[in-house]
Amino acid sequence: MKQTAAAARISETQGAPDYVQHEKLKAWVREIAQLTKPDDIYWCDGSQAEYDRLCNEMVRAGTLIRLSAEKRPNSFLARSDPDDVARMEDRTFVCSKSKDEAGPNNNWIEPAEMKSTLNKLFDGCMRGRTMYVIPFSMGPLGSHISHVGVELTDSPYVVASMRIMTRMGRDALNVLGTDSFFVPCVHSVGMPLAAGQKDVPWPSNKKEKWIVHFPEEKSIWSFGSGYGGNALLGKKCFALRIASIMAREQGWLAEHMLILGIQPPDGEKQYIAAAFPSACGKTNLAMLIPPKALNGWKVTTIGEDIAWIKPGKDGRLYAINPEAGAFGVAPGTSQDTNPNCLAALGSNVIYTNVALTPDGDVWWEGMTKTPPPKLTDWQGKEWTPDSGRKAAHPNARFTVHSSQIPCADPDWENPNGVPISAFLFGGRRSTTVPLVTEAKDWTSGVYLAATMASETTAAMTGAQGVVRRDPFAMLPFCGYHFGDYFKHWLEIGAKVPKPPKIFGVNWFRLDENGKFLWPGFGENMRVLKWIVERCLGRANAVETPLGRAPDFGDLDLGGMTGMTQEKFTKLMSLDKDLWRKELQDHDALFNDLKDKLPGAFKAQRDALANNFG
Ligand code: OXD
Ligand code: MN
Repeated sequence: MKQTAAAARISETQGAPDYVQHEKLKAWVREIAQLTKPDDIYWCDGSQAEYDRLCNEMVRAGTLIRLSAEKRPNSFLARSDPDDVARMEDRTFVCSKSKDEAGPNNNWIEPAEMKSTLNKLFDGCMRGRTMYVIPFSMGPLGSHISHVGVELTDSPYVVASMRIMTRMGRDALNVLGTDSFFVPCVHSVGMPLAAGQKDVPWPSNKKEKWIVHFPEEKSIWSFGSGYGGNALLGKKCFALRIASIMAREQGWLAEHMLILGIQPPDGEKQYIAAAFPSACGKTNLAMLIPPKALNGWKVTTIGEDIAWIKPGKDGRLYAINPEAGAFGVAPGTSQDTNPNCLAALGSNVIYTNVALTPDGDVWWEGMTKTPPPKLTDWQGKEWTPDSGRKAAHPNARFTVHSSQIPCADPDWENPNGVPISAFLFGGRRSTTVPLVTEAKDWTSGVYLAATMASETTAAMTGAQGVVRRDPFAMLPFCGYHFGDYFKHWLEIGAKVPKPPKIFGVNWFRLDENGKFLWPGFGENMRVLKWIVERCLGRANAVETPLGRAPDFGDLDLGGMTGMTQEKFTKLMSLDKDLWRKELQDHDALFNDLKDKLPGAFKAQRDALANNFG
C-alpha cells in the first residue's frame, strides 16, 4: 500500500514546469525518478527565495546551524558525518568501454557491470526524499567556452552549494533551450527513508560510496556521499574528469588550474594559469597581495581551482573559470596567509566541519594565533585548547560566491575568457626542484608538467614527505589515459600559433635544518613578476640543465630581508645525484604508460640525463 501511495505522488508531481521545453531532459528526469522513487520532484529555479527557503528547512532539520546574524550574516555551518569528510579517490571510477582508454591513472570497471551495480543501488534510493533537478552552467551563461549540466540529487545541501558554485536554475535551463547537449549527473546520499523513519542531519551511506563516470555517455553517477567533490558534481566530476574528455575530443583544455591577472605598473595586464596539487596553497596564490616593495603591481583573481581553456581567433589561448564560487579549505586561512580570502568570508557562506564559537561565529586551526578558550568542535563536541584534538576537521571547507572575493578580476565573468600568457606548474618539494624554471619550449614544458610531483603532508595521509607523481596536478582528475592526455597537450601546442610560455615553480624547498628557504605567500609575487617580465620580453634569464632561470640579480628582491646570494643559490641549486634519482622516477611513471607515452618524451628525458651526466 505504502509503495503505491508514493508512486502515485510521483506521477502527480513528475510533470516538469511549463517553462521546461527540453523533451530529452524531461524524459531523463522521469526515467531517473522511476528508478530512484523519490516522494517528490522539485525543479530548482535558482532564486534567492528558493535558497533561503531550503536553508531554513535545513536549519529545522538540523543539517545547518544558522551563524550569528552580527558576526556572519546569512551564513551557515554544516557538520558532516565523520565518515564522509573528503573526496574519495579510491571510490572514484572512469568506466570507459575499454580499460585502456581510462588508463592506469583511473580505477576502471566494465561499464555493463558498473551499470548493473548502480541500478541496484539507485533502485528506490530516494524513497522518503525529494529529488531536486538542478540545471547548471559551468562558465558564464551562454559563453562559447561554457557547458551545461543537470544534476539530480536528493540533498538540499547540494542544491544550496550548487547555487553558490555554479550559475544554476532557470537561466541555465534557458541556455539549454529545447534540445542542447547537457551532462547528466545523478547524485544520491544513498539513505532512503522508510515511512515514519526520522532523518539524520547528514544522511550518507556508511557501506557503499561510488563516484562513477561514463566517458562515452558523458554521464556521472554518485552514490553514498554528500561531501564536496563527491556530491557537487559540477566541480571535479564534470569540470575536470568529463570535461577533460570533451576537451580532448573538441580541441581544448580542462585543467586543475587557478587563473590570476597580473597588472604591471607600466604594461599590459597578463593572465597566468597555474596547476598545483591539493595542499600547495592554490587559494593563497590566486588571491595574493604583493609585498609593499613591489609598489604598483596588482593581482586579481579569475579562479582558484579549475580553468577551461579554448583557442581564440587571434592565435592565443583564452581561459574561463567554469565555477562561480570557491569550495576552499578553511584551516590555515588567516589574516596573515590570505586576507583577501578571509574578507570574502564575512557573509553568505556555507561552512562545513569548522568549529563553532559560543557567540555563533566560526573558527579553525590557523585562523588566529591563540585559539578561543572554548569551542564546539566539528563533531558538535565541547572543545578547549587542551583537548588534544583538532577543533575543525583538516579538510573543513567554506563555500562562497566568487563575487565576494575583494580581488576578483573585473573580467572574471567575461564570456570570452582572458588570454593566457603563461602556464605555471608547481608541487611541494623539499629538495631537488628549484624555485623557478622556464621551459625552453612547449615540448619541454609539457614534459616538466607531466613529470611534476608533490610531497604528501601529514594532514593528507598521516605520512609526511612521500613524493607522489601528479602529472599536471591532474592525477585524481584526468578522465582518460595520461599518455593520450600528454599527446593532447603536445598537439594543442603544435596547433596554437601563440602558445603561452611554461614555467615550473617550487615554493617549498627546505635548507639543511628543515627551514623553508623561501617565505612564500605574498613574496611569491617576486617570482610572478619575473615570469610576467619574461612574457613581456624584458627580464634576463640564464641557461640551466633544466631550462632557463633567473640569476640572483634578475629577481626583484627589493625590501626583502635575509635573501642572500648564498641562500638564493641553495634555492635554485640542481643536485646531480638527486636529479639522476628524479629521472629514474620519471622512468617509473613512463613505464606505466607503456606504448601511449609520447615519442617526444624520450628525447626530453635523454637530454636531461645528458645535462646532468
Ligand atoms: C580540491 C582538491 O579540493 O584539489 O580542490 O582536492
Ligand atoms: Mn582542486
